[in-house]
Amino acid sequence: MAYIAGHTPAVLKGHAARTAEDCAAYLLRHIKPDNYILDIGCGPGTITLGFAKRVPEGRVVGIDISPELMAKDTQEAQEQGIGNVTYQVGDIFHLPFSDATFDITHCHQVLCHLTDPKAAMKEMIRVTQPGGIVAAREAIFESMMIYPSTPALDAWKNKLQQMHLAKGQHPDAGKTLHHWALQLGIKPERIRSSAGNFCYSGREQREWWGSVWEERSISKEGEDSMVGPGIATKEEHSEISQEWKRWQGKEEAWFGMMHGEVLVWV
Ligand SMILES: C[S@@+](CC[C@H](N)C(=O)[O-])C[C@H]1O[C@@H](n2cnc3c(N)ncnc32)[C@H](O)[C@@H]1O
Repeated sequence: MAYIAGHTPAVLKGHAARTAEDCAAYLLRHIKPDNYILDIGCGPGTITLGFAKRVPEGRVVGIDISPELMAKDTQEAQEQGIGNVTYQVGDIFHLPFSDATFDITHCHQVLCHLTDPKAAMKEMIRVTQPGGIVAAREAIFESMMIYPSTPALDAWKNKLQQMHLAKGQHPDAGKTLHHWALQLGIKPERIRSSAGNFCYSGREQREWWGSVWEERSISKEGEDSMVGPGIATKEEHSEISQEWKRWQGKEEAWFGMMHGEVLVWV
């Protein structure tokens, strides 16, 4: 299945700023230096590299459905001289690994983009060793807070959710991760839920976040996914790019969003 946001420069600018420290803090203390880790839907692979640095005696594999990204990530790891990470093309629904292969199987912001995230989680559990950990962190779109907001930015939040729902995806995946694990037969005592936040304020962060959305909103992929299915008119869509530009210029601008996190001991 295609990734609906597309791997445009603006999308990648957003993802490539992520680190293992910012996005996987809930998992880091469970990582042992010799662990074998799988990072699924790794995108630009910055979180993956963070894991690799934490397993000097272990190994990390990053997989994604995008061959272009996997080639770029491989080059980046080589340039940084990180030898214990490899990247390969792969689909979360058909992981190219035997049962019980990894100590830790991780994904960040992937399940929310899928139509059958429970099947994906089942596959993550399959490739994880007994006693190992499946870890996932996903957004809860309904928790997005934009300050100061405007009617157009408020409407955009709803439209973004509608866009994902129209594709059968799960924009609030973060709050149901533990429930999916329960439904897959994992015992409650082997599941730990937590939550973490994205919060951007101050000049550097608001300009970065606002420009990501300013650029995403004017991209062809952004237009196709909003205007194509009739969620926004062309005018509303191009206006939102200007709204994000204005928002970045405000000293007091602040953005927050909660993410749900789950650790499952297989
Ligand atoms: C929102 S990005 C997250 C990237 C990265 N995990 C991060 O947080 O920076 C979602 C990624 O999942 C990948 N993806 C989507 N469907 C996938 C699938 N079926 N199997 C593997 N990767 C997939 C996309 O190509 C994209 O790079």
